[in-house]
Amino acid sequence: GIIQLRWATFGAPAQVNAQPFMDCKQEIVGAENGNIVNSIQLQEILENEGHTIQSTNDGEICVHVVAKHMRAGKTMLESIQLAYKELKGDYALIFFNKVENKIYAIKKGSGLVVAVTENEAYCSSDIPSILPLTNEIISMQDGDIVVLEPGKAEFYRADTGEKVERKAKVHKETMESAQKGGYDHFMLKEIHEQSDRARDLIDLLNESKFVEPFVSALKSAREIYFVGCGTSYHACQLGSYYFNKIANKRAIPSLPQQFIEEFGNSLTSEDAVVFVSQSGETKDVLNALNYAKEKGCKILGMLNVLGSTLMNISDVYLPIACGYEISVPATKTFLNQAIMFLYMAFRQADKDTSELAELPGLIQKTIDETDESCKEIAEHIKGWKELYYLGYGITHPIAKEGALKLKEITYMHCEGIFSSEFKHGPLSAVEKDYPVAFITAPENVDIMISHINEVACRHGKVLLIAEDNEVLQKYATSFVKVPKTNQILFPLLATIPAQLISYYASKNLDLDPDFPRNLSKTLTVD
Ligand code: AGP
Repeated sequence: GIIQLRWATFGAPAQVNAQPFMDCKQEIVGAENGNIVNSIQLQEILENEGHTIQSTNDGEICVHVVAKHMRAGKTMLESIQLAYKELKGDYALIFFNKVENKIYAIKKGSGLVVAVTENEAYCSSDIPSILPLTNEIISMQDGDIVVLEPGKAEFYRADTGEKVERKAKVHKETMESAQKGGYDHFMLKEIHEQSDRARDLIDLLNESKFVEPFVSALKSAREIYFVGCGTSYHACQLGSYYFNKIANKRAIPSLPQQFIEEFGNSLTSEDAVVFVSQSGETKDVLNALNYAKEKGCKILGMLNVLGSTLMNISDVYLPIACGYEISVPATKTFLNQAIMFLYMAFRQADKDTSELAELPGLIQKTIDETDESCKEIAEHIKGWKELYYLGYGITHPIAKEGALKLKEITYMHCEGIFSSEFKHGPLSAVEKDYPVAFITAPENVDIMISHINEVACRHGKVLLIAEDNEVLQKYATSFVKVPKTNQILFPLLATIPAQLISYYASKNLDLDPDFPRNLSKTLTVD
Protein backbone atom coordinates (compact mmCIF):
# COMPACT_ATOMS: atom_id res chain seq x y z
CA GLY A 1 0.00 0.00 0.00
CA ILE A 2 0.98 3.61 -0.48
CA ILE A 3 -0.17 6.44 1.73
CA GLN A 4 0.74 10.07 1.24
CA LEU A 5 -0.21 12.69 3.83
CA ARG A 6 -0.19 15.69 1.59
CA TRP A 7 1.03 19.16 2.57
CA ALA A 8 -0.50 21.05 -0.31
CA THR A 9 2.11 23.14 -2.12
CA PHE A 10 0.97 22.76 -5.70
CA GLY A 11 -2.68 22.06 -6.36
CA ALA A 12 -5.50 22.74 -3.93
CA PRO A 13 -6.15 20.28 -1.11
CA ALA A 14 -8.89 18.47 -3.08
CA GLN A 15 -9.72 14.89 -3.95
CA VAL A 16 -8.44 15.25 -7.51
CA ASN A 17 -5.01 16.20 -6.17
CA ALA A 18 -4.89 13.51 -3.49
CA GLN A 19 -2.11 10.96 -3.84
CA PRO A 20 -1.38 8.25 -4.83
CA PHE A 21 -2.00 8.73 -8.57
CA MET A 22 -2.50 6.29 -11.41
CA ASP A 23 -1.34 6.44 -14.99
CA CYS A 24 -3.88 6.65 -17.87
CA LYS A 25 -4.17 2.86 -18.16
CA GLN A 26 -4.38 2.38 -14.40
CA GLU A 27 -1.42 0.03 -14.48
CA ILE A 28 0.98 2.02 -12.32
CA VAL A 29 0.31 3.75 -9.06
CA GLY A 30 2.65 6.15 -7.30
CA ALA A 31 3.14 9.07 -4.94
CA GLU A 32 5.65 11.84 -4.53
CA ASN A 33 7.04 13.89 -1.68
CA GLY A 34 8.98 16.86 -2.97
CA ASN A 35 8.89 19.35 -5.77
CA ILE A 36 9.30 18.55 -9.48
CA VAL A 37 10.49 21.90 -10.79
CA ASN A 38 10.04 21.06 -14.49
CA SER A 39 6.56 19.55 -14.09
CA ILE A 40 4.88 22.15 -16.35
CA GLN A 41 7.25 21.37 -19.24
CA LEU A 42 6.87 17.62 -18.65
CA GLN A 43 3.09 17.91 -18.57
CA GLU A 44 3.10 19.57 -21.97
CA ILE A 45 5.31 16.83 -23.43
CA LEU A 46 3.17 14.09 -21.87
CA GLU A 47 -0.09 15.62 -23.11
CA ASN A 48 1.34 15.95 -26.62
CA GLU A 49 2.14 12.24 -26.43
CA GLY A 50 -1.49 11.48 -25.52
CA HIS A 51 -1.39 11.26 -21.72
CA THR A 52 -4.31 12.73 -19.79
CA ILE A 53 -3.22 14.55 -16.65
CA GLN A 54 -6.13 15.03 -14.28
CA SER A 55 -4.69 16.83 -11.30
CA THR A 56 -2.62 19.94 -10.71
CA ASN A 57 -0.26 17.99 -8.46
CA ASP A 58 3.25 17.32 -9.76
CA GLY A 59 3.13 13.81 -8.22
CA GLU A 60 0.87 12.70 -11.05
CA ILE A 61 3.48 13.72 -13.63
CA CYS A 62 5.99 11.30 -12.07
CA VAL A 63 3.58 8.39 -12.49
CA HIS A 64 2.97 9.22 -16.15
CA VAL A 65 6.69 9.56 -16.84
CA VAL A 66 7.38 6.09 -15.45
CA ALA A 67 4.33 4.68 -17.29
CA LYS A 68 5.58 6.15 -20.57
CA HIS A 69 8.82 4.18 -20.32
CA MET A 70 7.04 1.01 -19.21
CA ARG A 71 4.82 1.25 -22.27
CA ALA A 72 7.94 1.52 -24.40
CA GLY A 73 8.96 -1.91 -23.12
CA LYS A 74 11.32 -1.00 -20.27
CA THR A 75 11.27 -2.77 -16.91
CA MET A 76 10.03 -0.88 -13.86
CA LEU A 77 13.60 -0.41 -12.61
CA GLU A 78 14.76 0.91 -16.00
CA SER A 79 11.73 3.18 -16.26
CA ILE A 80 12.48 4.73 -12.87
CA GLN A 81 16.12 5.20 -13.89
CA LEU A 82 14.97 7.03 -17.02
CA ALA A 83 12.47 9.09 -15.02
CA TYR A 84 15.33 10.08 -12.67
CA LYS A 85 17.05 11.73 -15.63
CA GLU A 86 13.93 13.63 -16.64
CA LEU A 87 12.49 14.75 -13.32
CA LYS A 88 14.22 17.88 -12.05
CA GLY A 89 14.02 18.98 -8.43
CA ASP A 90 14.20 17.20 -5.10
CA TYR A 91 11.87 14.35 -4.38
CA ALA A 92 11.17 10.92 -2.96
CA LEU A 93 8.94 8.76 -5.18
CA ILE A 94 7.24 5.45 -4.61
CA PHE A 95 5.53 3.22 -7.18
CA PHE A 96 4.08 -0.18 -7.82
CA ASN A 97 2.54 -1.79 -10.85
CA LYS A 98 -0.30 -4.18 -11.50
CA VAL A 99 1.90 -7.16 -12.28
CA GLU A 100 4.73 -7.41 -9.77
CA ASN A 101 4.39 -7.92 -6.03
CA LYS A 102 7.05 -5.26 -5.46
CA ILE A 103 7.26 -1.65 -4.41
CA TYR A 104 9.84 0.63 -5.99
CA ALA A 105 11.05 3.89 -4.46
CA ILE A 106 13.68 6.45 -5.33
CA LYS A 107 15.30 9.18 -3.26
CA LYS A 108 16.69 12.45 -4.56
CA GLY A 109 17.01 15.27 -2.05
CA SER A 110 13.97 14.37 0.08
CA GLY A 111 14.06 11.98 3.04
CA LEU A 112 13.46 8.24 2.49
CA VAL A 113 14.18 5.39 4.89
CA VAL A 114 13.60 1.66 4.58
CA ALA A 115 12.98 -1.18 7.02
CA VAL A 116 12.70 -4.91 6.43
CA THR A 117 11.13 -7.35 8.88
CA GLU A 118 10.59 -11.08 8.50
CA ASN A 119 7.55 -10.86 6.24
CA GLU A 120 7.28 -7.18 5.46
CA ALA A 121 9.19 -4.28 3.98
CA TYR A 122 8.51 -0.59 4.56
CA CYS A 123 9.72 2.71 3.30
CA SER A 124 8.79 6.14 4.54
CA SER A 125 9.82 9.79 4.53
CA ASP A 126 10.98 9.71 8.12
CA ILE A 127 12.18 7.41 10.87
CA PRO A 128 9.50 8.05 13.55
CA SER A 129 6.75 6.61 11.33
CA ILE A 130 8.61 3.31 11.03
CA LEU A 131 9.84 2.98 14.61
CA PRO A 132 6.62 1.44 15.97
CA LEU A 133 7.20 -1.42 13.48
CA THR A 134 10.93 -1.98 13.87
CA ASN A 135 13.99 -0.11 15.13
CA GLU A 136 16.32 -1.45 12.42
CA ILE A 137 16.28 1.24 9.79
CA ILE A 138 18.20 1.74 6.55
CA SER A 139 18.88 5.30 5.40
CA MET A 140 18.87 5.64 1.61
CA GLN A 141 21.34 7.87 -0.21
CA ASP A 142 20.46 10.37 -2.89
CA GLY A 143 20.22 8.60 -6.22
CA ASP A 144 19.28 5.24 -4.64
CA ILE A 145 16.39 3.14 -5.89
CA VAL A 146 15.01 0.50 -3.56
CA VAL A 147 12.97 -2.51 -4.63
CA LEU A 148 10.88 -3.89 -1.78
CA GLU A 149 9.35 -7.31 -1.48
CA PRO A 150 7.94 -8.98 1.63
CA GLY A 151 10.97 -9.52 3.90
CA LYS A 152 13.44 -8.10 1.35
CA ALA A 153 14.95 -4.85 0.07
CA GLU A 154 17.40 -4.45 -2.82
CA PHE A 155 19.17 -1.19 -3.64
CA TYR A 156 20.37 0.12 -7.00
CA ARG A 157 22.06 3.33 -8.13
CA ALA A 158 19.72 5.29 -10.37
CA ASP A 159 22.44 6.60 -12.68
CA THR A 160 24.29 3.32 -13.37
CA GLY A 161 21.79 0.62 -12.39
CA GLU A 162 24.54 -0.95 -10.27
CA LYS A 163 23.34 -2.98 -7.25
CA VAL A 164 24.57 -1.60 -3.91
CA GLU A 165 24.53 -2.65 -0.26
CA ARG A 166 22.79 -0.49 2.34
CA LYS A 167 23.00 -1.59 5.95
CA ALA A 168 20.41 -1.13 8.69
CA LYS A 169 21.24 0.80 11.84
CA VAL A 170 19.58 0.02 15.14
CA HIS A 171 17.79 3.03 16.59
CA LYS A 172 17.61 3.17 20.35
CA GLU A 173 14.74 5.66 20.68
CA THR A 174 11.51 4.26 22.03
CA MET A 175 8.12 5.35 20.81
CA GLU A 176 6.97 6.16 24.33
CA SER A 177 6.78 9.72 22.98
CA ALA A 178 3.96 8.58 20.69
CA GLN A 179 1.67 8.03 23.72
CA LYS A 180 -0.15 10.92 25.38
CA GLY A 181 0.59 9.47 28.83
CA GLY A 182 -2.63 10.74 30.44
CA TYR A 183 -2.43 14.27 28.98
CA ASP A 184 -5.17 15.67 26.73
CA HIS A 185 -2.67 16.59 24.04
CA PHE A 186 0.90 15.81 23.06
CA MET A 187 1.69 19.51 23.34
CA LEU A 188 0.84 19.64 27.04
CA LYS A 189 2.71 16.40 27.65
CA GLU A 190 5.76 17.75 25.83
CA ILE A 191 5.65 21.03 27.80
CA HIS A 192 5.55 19.02 31.03
CA GLU A 193 8.47 16.84 29.93
CA GLN A 194 10.80 19.81 29.59
CA SER A 195 12.49 19.50 32.95
CA ASP A 196 13.43 15.84 32.32
CA ARG A 197 14.52 16.49 28.76
CA ALA A 198 16.71 19.41 29.89
CA ARG A 199 18.35 17.05 32.39
CA ASP A 200 18.93 14.49 29.62
CA LEU A 201 20.57 17.12 27.45
CA ILE A 202 22.81 18.44 30.22
CA ASP A 203 23.95 14.85 30.94
CA LEU A 204 24.64 14.32 27.25
CA LEU A 205 26.65 17.53 27.00
CA ASN A 206 28.76 16.42 29.94
CA GLU A 207 29.46 13.03 28.36
CA SER A 208 29.26 13.07 24.57
CA LYS A 209 32.44 12.71 22.57
CA PHE A 210 30.91 14.92 19.87
CA VAL A 211 30.86 17.99 22.13
CA GLU A 212 34.57 18.86 21.89
CA PRO A 213 34.74 18.91 18.05
CA PHE A 214 31.62 21.11 18.03
CA VAL A 215 33.08 23.53 20.58
CA SER A 216 36.45 23.74 18.85
CA ALA A 217 34.93 24.23 15.37
CA LEU A 218 33.11 27.27 16.76
CA LYS A 219 36.19 28.53 18.56
CA SER A 220 38.36 28.47 15.49
CA ALA A 221 35.79 29.89 13.07
CA ARG A 222 36.31 33.23 11.38
CA GLU A 223 32.58 33.93 11.26
CA ILE A 224 29.77 31.96 12.92
CA TYR A 225 26.22 31.61 11.58
CA PHE A 226 23.20 29.98 13.21
CA VAL A 227 20.60 28.91 10.64
CA GLY A 228 17.09 27.56 11.21
CA CYS A 229 13.39 28.08 10.42
CA GLY A 230 10.43 29.01 12.62
CA THR A 231 10.96 28.03 16.22
CA SER A 232 14.45 26.73 15.50
CA TYR A 233 15.30 30.17 14.10
CA HIS A 234 14.17 31.77 17.35
CA ALA A 235 16.55 29.44 19.20
CA CYS A 236 19.29 30.68 16.83
CA GLN A 237 18.45 34.27 17.72
CA LEU A 238 18.63 33.53 21.44
CA GLY A 239 21.89 31.67 20.81
CA SER A 240 23.30 34.79 19.21
CA TYR A 241 22.44 36.84 22.32
CA TYR A 242 24.13 34.21 24.49
CA PHE A 243 27.30 34.27 22.38
CA ASN A 244 27.42 38.05 22.60
CA LYS A 245 26.59 38.37 26.30
CA ILE A 246 28.61 35.44 27.62
CA ALA A 247 31.47 35.00 25.17
CA ASN A 248 31.71 38.50 23.60
CA LYS A 249 31.48 36.70 20.29
CA ARG A 250 29.49 37.49 17.17
CA ALA A 251 27.24 34.73 15.83
CA ILE A 252 24.86 35.71 13.07
CA PRO A 253 21.37 34.16 13.26
CA SER A 254 19.72 33.72 9.91
CA LEU A 255 16.82 32.14 8.09
CA PRO A 256 18.11 29.67 5.49
CA GLN A 257 17.18 31.63 2.37
CA GLN A 258 18.29 34.85 3.98
CA PHE A 259 21.61 33.15 4.76
CA ILE A 260 22.16 32.43 1.06
CA GLU A 261 20.87 35.77 -0.21
CA GLU A 262 22.38 38.06 2.40
CA PHE A 263 25.61 36.34 3.41
CA GLY A 264 26.26 33.81 0.65
CA ASN A 265 28.87 35.70 -1.35
CA SER A 266 31.10 36.37 1.64
CA LEU A 267 31.17 32.80 3.01
CA THR A 268 34.59 31.13 3.22
CA SER A 269 36.00 27.79 4.30
CA GLU A 270 37.01 29.40 7.60
CA ASP A 271 33.37 29.96 8.58
CA ALA A 272 31.28 27.62 10.71
CA VAL A 273 27.54 27.29 10.25
CA VAL A 274 25.31 25.67 12.85
CA PHE A 275 22.20 24.30 11.15
CA VAL A 276 19.41 23.92 13.68
CA SER A 277 16.47 21.67 12.88
CA GLN A 278 14.37 19.52 15.17
CA SER A 279 13.40 17.15 12.38
CA GLY A 280 16.71 17.37 10.56
CA GLU A 281 14.69 17.18 7.33
CA THR A 282 13.52 20.77 6.78
CA LYS A 283 14.15 21.37 3.10
CA ASP A 284 14.87 25.10 3.47
CA VAL A 285 17.60 24.28 5.99
CA LEU A 286 19.07 21.50 3.83
CA ASN A 287 19.19 23.85 0.82
CA ALA A 288 21.24 26.36 2.82
CA LEU A 289 23.40 23.54 4.15
CA ASN A 290 24.25 22.32 0.65
CA TYR A 291 25.08 25.87 -0.32
CA ALA A 292 27.41 26.32 2.68
CA LYS A 293 29.00 22.94 1.95
CA GLU A 294 29.86 24.06 -1.57
CA LYS A 295 31.50 27.15 -0.10
CA GLY A 296 33.61 24.86 2.10
CA CYS A 297 32.15 26.05 5.42
CA LYS A 298 32.33 23.80 8.46
CA ILE A 299 28.87 22.25 8.83
CA LEU A 300 27.60 21.72 12.37
CA GLY A 301 24.19 20.10 12.92
CA MET A 302 21.95 20.59 15.94
CA LEU A 303 19.07 18.16 15.62
CA ASN A 304 16.60 16.01 17.45
CA VAL A 305 15.88 13.14 15.05
CA LEU A 306 18.80 10.73 14.97
CA GLY A 307 19.43 9.30 11.53
CA SER A 308 17.96 12.39 9.86
CA THR A 309 19.45 13.90 6.71
CA LEU A 310 20.94 16.77 8.73
CA MET A 311 22.72 14.30 10.97
CA ASN A 312 24.04 12.32 8.03
CA ILE A 313 25.48 15.26 6.13
CA SER A 314 26.87 17.42 8.95
CA ASP A 315 30.63 17.43 9.59
CA VAL A 316 29.84 17.33 13.31
CA TYR A 317 26.42 17.02 14.91
CA LEU A 318 24.91 17.13 18.36
CA PRO A 319 21.50 15.74 19.28
CA ILE A 320 19.28 17.81 21.56
CA ALA A 321 18.08 14.64 23.32
CA CYS A 322 14.36 15.40 23.48
CA GLY A 323 12.90 12.11 22.32
CA TYR A 324 10.35 12.45 19.53
CA GLU A 325 8.24 15.56 19.51
CA ILE A 326 4.84 14.63 18.11
CA SER A 327 2.89 17.86 18.48
CA VAL A 328 3.33 20.20 15.49
CA PRO A 329 4.11 23.20 17.71
CA ALA A 330 7.70 22.82 18.89
CA THR A 331 8.10 23.21 22.65
CA LYS A 332 10.60 20.92 24.36
CA THR A 333 12.87 21.02 21.32
CA PHE A 334 13.06 24.82 21.45
CA LEU A 335 14.05 24.78 25.09
CA ASN A 336 16.79 22.21 24.53
CA GLN A 337 18.10 24.01 21.43
CA ALA A 338 18.35 27.16 23.56
CA ILE A 339 20.08 25.27 26.39
CA MET A 340 22.55 23.81 23.90
CA PHE A 341 23.37 27.34 22.66
CA LEU A 342 23.79 28.51 26.25
CA TYR A 343 26.19 25.64 26.94
CA MET A 344 28.15 26.48 23.76
CA ALA A 345 28.38 30.14 24.79
CA PHE A 346 29.81 29.17 28.18
CA ARG A 347 32.34 26.92 26.46
CA GLN A 348 33.34 29.63 23.97
CA ALA A 349 34.12 31.84 26.95
CA ASP A 350 35.94 28.99 28.76
CA LYS A 351 33.46 29.42 31.58
CA ASP A 352 32.14 26.83 33.96
CA THR A 353 28.86 25.26 32.78
CA SER A 354 27.71 24.07 36.21
CA GLU A 355 25.02 26.78 36.35
CA LEU A 356 23.05 24.64 33.90
CA ALA A 357 22.48 22.03 36.59
CA GLU A 358 19.91 24.36 38.20
CA LEU A 359 17.81 24.46 35.07
CA PRO A 360 15.73 21.26 35.31
CA GLY A 361 14.51 22.26 38.78
CA LEU A 362 13.75 25.82 37.68
CA ILE A 363 11.88 24.60 34.60
CA GLN A 364 9.66 22.37 36.73
CA LYS A 365 9.06 25.19 39.21
CA THR A 366 8.05 27.49 36.35
CA ILE A 367 5.57 24.97 34.99
CA ASP A 368 4.06 24.42 38.43
CA GLU A 369 3.91 28.08 39.41
CA THR A 370 2.75 29.68 36.17
CA ASP A 371 0.14 27.18 34.99
CA GLU A 372 -2.84 28.81 36.74
CA SER A 373 -2.11 32.38 35.62
CA CYS A 374 -1.56 31.14 32.05
CA LYS A 375 -4.98 29.49 32.11
CA GLU A 376 -6.52 32.78 33.25
CA ILE A 377 -4.87 34.78 30.48
CA ALA A 378 -5.91 32.18 27.92
CA GLU A 379 -9.54 32.67 29.01
CA HIS A 380 -9.33 36.34 27.93
CA ILE A 381 -7.69 35.54 24.62
CA LYS A 382 -10.96 34.00 23.42
CA GLY A 383 -12.35 37.48 22.86
CA TRP A 384 -9.29 38.97 21.18
CA LYS A 385 -8.43 39.09 17.52
CA GLU A 386 -4.80 40.12 17.88
CA LEU A 387 -1.94 40.52 20.33
CA TYR A 388 1.58 41.95 20.38
CA TYR A 389 4.34 40.19 22.31
CA LEU A 390 7.16 42.57 23.16
CA GLY A 391 10.63 41.62 24.35
CA TYR A 392 13.75 43.65 24.96
CA GLY A 393 17.20 42.33 24.02
CA ILE A 394 17.54 38.78 25.24
CA THR A 395 13.77 38.32 25.50
CA HIS A 396 13.12 39.49 21.94
CA PRO A 397 13.47 35.92 20.57
CA ILE A 398 11.08 34.71 23.27
CA ALA A 399 8.53 37.35 22.29
CA LYS A 400 8.79 36.11 18.70
CA GLU A 401 8.50 32.51 19.81
CA GLY A 402 5.49 33.29 22.04
CA ALA A 403 3.82 35.01 19.11
CA LEU A 404 4.58 32.18 16.70
CA LYS A 405 3.17 29.61 19.10
CA LEU A 406 -0.01 31.58 19.63
CA LYS A 407 -0.70 32.24 15.95
CA GLU A 408 0.22 28.69 15.00
CA ILE A 409 -2.40 27.04 17.18
CA THR A 410 -5.11 29.71 17.69
CA TYR A 411 -4.99 31.18 14.14
CA MET A 412 -5.20 34.70 15.65
CA HIS A 413 -2.87 37.45 14.48
CA CYS A 414 0.05 37.92 16.80
CA GLU A 415 3.40 39.67 16.36
CA GLY A 416 6.54 39.40 18.43
CA ILE A 417 8.72 42.50 18.23
CA PHE A 418 11.59 44.30 19.95
CA SER A 419 9.87 46.54 22.52
CA SER A 420 11.75 49.70 21.58
CA GLU A 421 10.45 49.34 18.00
CA PHE A 422 6.82 49.45 19.11
CA LYS A 423 6.68 53.25 19.14
CA HIS A 424 7.99 53.33 15.55
CA GLY A 425 4.70 52.18 14.08
CA PRO A 426 2.69 49.39 15.76
CA LEU A 427 1.80 51.64 18.73
CA SER A 428 -0.87 53.22 16.55
CA ALA A 429 -2.96 50.06 17.00
CA VAL A 430 -3.27 50.63 20.74
CA GLU A 431 -6.56 51.94 22.12
CA LYS A 432 -8.57 51.14 25.22
CA ASP A 433 -8.23 47.44 26.16
CA TYR A 434 -5.87 46.61 23.29
CA PRO A 435 -3.71 43.71 24.59
CA VAL A 436 0.10 43.82 24.61
CA ALA A 437 2.26 41.22 26.38
CA PHE A 438 5.69 42.19 27.73
CA ILE A 439 8.39 39.63 28.47
CA THR A 440 10.69 41.46 30.83
CA ALA A 441 14.08 40.11 31.92
CA PRO A 442 15.29 41.17 35.38
CA GLU A 443 18.00 43.54 34.15
CA ASN A 444 15.72 45.28 31.66
CA VAL A 445 12.90 46.29 33.98
CA ASP A 446 13.65 50.03 33.85
CA ILE A 447 13.73 50.33 30.07
CA MET A 448 10.71 48.06 29.76
CA ILE A 449 8.73 50.30 32.10
CA SER A 450 9.06 53.08 29.52
CA HIS A 451 7.74 50.75 26.85
CA ILE A 452 4.95 49.45 29.08
CA ASN A 453 3.97 53.06 29.80
CA GLU A 454 3.35 53.68 26.12
CA VAL A 455 0.57 51.10 26.25
CA ALA A 456 -0.66 51.73 29.79
CA CYS A 457 -1.18 55.46 29.29
CA ARG A 458 -3.38 54.69 26.29
CA HIS A 459 -5.45 52.32 28.47
CA GLY A 460 -4.27 49.22 26.67
CA LYS A 461 -4.16 45.89 28.53
CA VAL A 462 -0.68 45.06 29.83
CA LEU A 463 0.15 41.37 30.21
CA LEU A 464 3.42 40.73 31.96
CA ILE A 465 5.73 37.76 32.00
CA ALA A 466 8.46 38.69 34.46
CA GLU A 467 9.92 37.99 37.87
CA ASP A 468 7.87 39.37 40.76
CA ASN A 469 8.40 43.11 40.93
CA GLU A 470 6.37 45.76 42.78
CA VAL A 471 6.69 48.46 40.14
CA LEU A 472 5.80 46.16 37.27
CA GLN A 473 2.85 44.89 39.26
CA LYS A 474 1.29 48.39 39.18
CA TYR A 475 1.02 48.31 35.41
CA ALA A 476 -0.13 44.75 34.94
CA THR A 477 -3.63 43.82 33.87
CA SER A 478 -2.37 40.22 34.19
CA PHE A 479 0.96 39.10 35.62
CA VAL A 480 2.65 35.73 35.10
CA LYS A 481 5.33 35.50 37.77
CA VAL A 482 8.39 33.58 36.67
CA PRO A 483 10.56 32.08 39.45
CA LYS A 484 13.57 34.19 40.46
CA THR A 485 16.73 33.48 38.54
CA ASN A 486 19.07 35.72 36.52
CA GLN A 487 19.26 37.57 33.22
CA ILE A 488 20.73 34.61 31.35
CA LEU A 489 18.37 31.86 32.51
CA PHE A 490 15.25 34.06 32.52
CA PRO A 491 14.49 33.77 28.77
CA LEU A 492 14.45 29.99 29.03
CA LEU A 493 11.94 30.05 31.87
CA ALA A 494 9.84 32.80 30.28
CA THR A 495 9.32 30.55 27.26
CA ILE A 496 7.21 28.18 29.35
CA PRO A 497 4.29 30.53 30.17
CA ALA A 498 4.25 31.63 26.52
CA GLN A 499 3.83 27.95 25.55
CA LEU A 500 1.15 27.34 28.18
CA ILE A 501 -0.85 30.46 27.26
CA SER A 502 -0.95 29.33 23.62
CA TYR A 503 -1.90 25.79 24.57
CA TYR A 504 -4.81 26.80 26.79
CA ALA A 505 -5.96 29.46 24.31
CA SER A 506 -6.09 26.87 21.54
CA LYS A 507 -7.95 24.43 23.76
CA ASN A 508 -10.47 27.11 24.76
CA LEU A 509 -11.18 27.72 21.10
CA ASP A 510 -11.89 24.01 20.64
CA LEU A 511 -8.99 23.67 18.26
CA ASP A 512 -6.54 20.79 18.25
CA PRO A 513 -3.18 22.31 19.28
CA ASP A 514 -1.31 19.19 18.18
CA PHE A 515 -2.38 19.38 14.57
CA PRO A 516 -3.01 22.98 13.45
CA ARG A 517 -4.61 23.37 10.04
CA ASN A 518 -2.37 23.79 6.96
CA LEU A 519 0.80 22.87 8.86
CA SER A 520 3.02 19.85 9.05
CA LYS A 521 5.62 18.73 11.59
CA THR A 522 8.29 18.27 8.96
CA LEU A 523 8.42 20.60 6.00
CA THR A 524 10.20 18.77 3.23
CA VAL A 525 9.26 21.26 0.53
CA ASP A 526 10.94 24.46 -0.69
C1 AGP B 1 6.98 25.76 15.41
O1 AGP B 1 6.11 25.47 16.41
C2 AGP B 1 6.90 25.04 14.17
N1 AGP B 1 6.15 23.89 14.09
C3 AGP B 1 7.89 25.37 13.09
O2 AGP B 1 8.12 26.75 13.07
C4 AGP B 1 9.21 24.61 13.09
O3 AGP B 1 10.00 25.03 14.16
C5 AGP B 1 9.93 24.84 11.75
O4 AGP B 1 9.14 24.33 10.70
C6 AGP B 1 11.31 24.23 11.71
O5 AGP B 1 11.27 22.85 11.90
P1 AGP B 1 12.59 22.02 12.19
O6 AGP B 1 13.11 22.47 13.51
O7 AGP B 1 12.17 20.59 12.16
O8 AGP B 1 13.56 22.36 11.10
